Amino acid sequence: MKPAPPFHSQKKAVANPEKVSVSLYYETLCPYCRNFILDPLAKAIKTDLMTILDLQVPWGNAMILPDSTVSCQHRDECYLNSIHACVIDIWPDVIMHFNLIQCIEEQSSAMGLGNGAEALYNVCAEQLGFPAKPIKDCHESARGRELLLQYGSRTDVSIRLTDMSSGVVNGNPLLESMSASHTEANLCPQHVFHIPPAQFLRKGHSTQFALQKIGVDKAKGIIFETIFEKLDIKQIFSSSPTIFRTADLGCAAGPNTFLAVENIVELVKLKCQFHGLDLDSLEFQVFFNDLVSNDFNKLFKNLPGDKEYYASGVPGSFHGRLFPPASLHFAYSSYALANLLKVPDELQDTVSPAWNKGKVYFTNSPKEVAEAYTMQFAKDLESFLKARALELVPGGLMAFLLTSVPPDTKCALTAVLDLLGSILMDLVNMGKVSEEKVDSFNLPLYFPNPIEFKDLIAKNGSFTIERMHALELPCPEVGEGVMHIRAILEEPIKEHFGAQIMESLFNQLQNKIAENSVAFDLSYKRAFVLCAVLKRKMYLENV
Ligand SMILES: C[S@@+](CC[C@H](N)C(=O)[O-])C[C@H]1O[C@@H](n2cnc3c(N)ncnc32)[C@H](O)[C@@H]1O
Repeated sequence: MKPAPPFHSQKKAVANPEKVSVSLYYETLCPYCRNFILDPLAKAIKTDLMTILDLQVPWGNAMILPDSTVSCQHRDECYLNSIHACVIDIWPDVIMHFNLIQCIEEQSSAMGLGNGAEALYNVCAEQLGFPAKPIKDCHESARGRELLLQYGSRTDVSIRLTDMSSGVVNGNPLLESMSASHTEANLCPQHVFHIPPAQFLRKGHSTQFALQKIGVDKAKGIIFETIFEKLDIKQIFSSSPTIFRTADLGCAAGPNTFLAVENIVELVKLKCQFHGLDLDSLEFQVFFNDLVSNDFNKLFKNLPGDKEYYASGVPGSFHGRLFPPASLHFAYSSYALANLLKVPDELQDTVSPAWNKGKVYFTNSPKEVAEAYTMQFAKDLESFLKARALELVPGGLMAFLLTSVPPDTKCALTAVLDLLGSILMDLVNMGKVSEEKVDSFNLPLYFPNPIEFKDLIAKNGSFTIERMHALELPCPEVGEGVMHIRAILEEPIKEHFGAQIMESLFNQLQNKIAENSVAFDLSYKRAFVLCAVLKRKMYLENV
């Protein structure tokens, strides 16, 4: 029988300029490599490093013989090298393929090869919810051999090893072998890469987008799991024509939105292939939503030329209805829900206990100010959820990324927003800004804590929470952090105070942070990104 065509991810394996290329030259079934993969590498991958690494060259000391066959040291090693190569090819994202590779190594250590090498990846694929068939198809087709030979030639030309596992960072071999004892330190960027924080960030895009992209990348694995387990794809295929409709709510003008929707399209296709559904009959429609003030022209100009979906712009606030009933299969929103629909009125009411005099946020303000912010966020989220409950199909999914602050702790982000208020008051004292201007300004932002967010979803009642993770973002160096905050706050501040104060305001913010305990006091907690995936209930009770 003709083997099934190899399964390929749509993602092109291009070198990613903002990533640190760490090539781990290893082979399967080698105890040193396994120890390295299961201990220091697994630990490193669980940190933020995962988002900047490109990994893995499964070849080791294998050799290409004169008759073009590949020879390996251990029985089944060539077979498993090819399986690893296929896994990396099918799921190019580190977060995706590393879990499977780690599991295969664990299984081979625990079970040995008594049940045959194929049993190892079948067990892992089942455990992790990955489809095993595409791996088998890739291995049995010319693709598996092609990948293996590519890795072989990379290993030959890049580094000839004395150890079974060794590493190359951005093209430079690590001189010492990768032993479990010291590689944990090596894989810590501060210790070995000596990369200034700016280099963690995507070149050519603003810092704001680069920091946000880290969350988008991390969320991919979580969204993948949920699509895989919870999306009723057969139901979608039961209608003709088969159109999968997805929306990015608060998309801005790119580039993160393109990456996010490309991820969703890719993951849905994976799911279809797993179920043997005919991809040719499936079409994707993507709605890019943002406020009418968004630069939709820029968004449309930047749409990727090779996109695999029909694109439409949907202007308007996501706090109201944007789509016909039961028309969306997947809604996505990243870093947009923190924007409040409006600043609560009582913050500017001079006779209210919530009057936020001399402050722009609620850190260190009377408790009534914080309560007013909390209530506004609750109202906003409820209107958002109500609209989406009607627009999503029953069983439809909705993924969020939102900045979140830990409850009842000193948080660096909110402390910095407080410093911004105190700098504005300094400008008042210098006569550069009027006091009334500061008193009448409050930042229209709110960062819920995870428990609060969970409670609001439960109160709404139309969704179940399928996944919820708090992902800690890397702490940017002061200058980068200020650029990030400026990118988010520039517009509302400029609109209220005028463009002339912007430079000195943000320069002073940078100086003030550097002198303030927030820059070095380790008891300040970092904000994190909350990644949640919700499922629209099959029946709505409160509508
Ligand atoms: C910080 S940007 C995030 C952009 C993009 N999602 C990302 O992850 O890079 C927040 C976006 O949400 C949009 N936004 C804020 N409030 C909105 C609302 N009520 N309805 C639709 N979009 C909104 C803003 O205009 C802005 O483009």
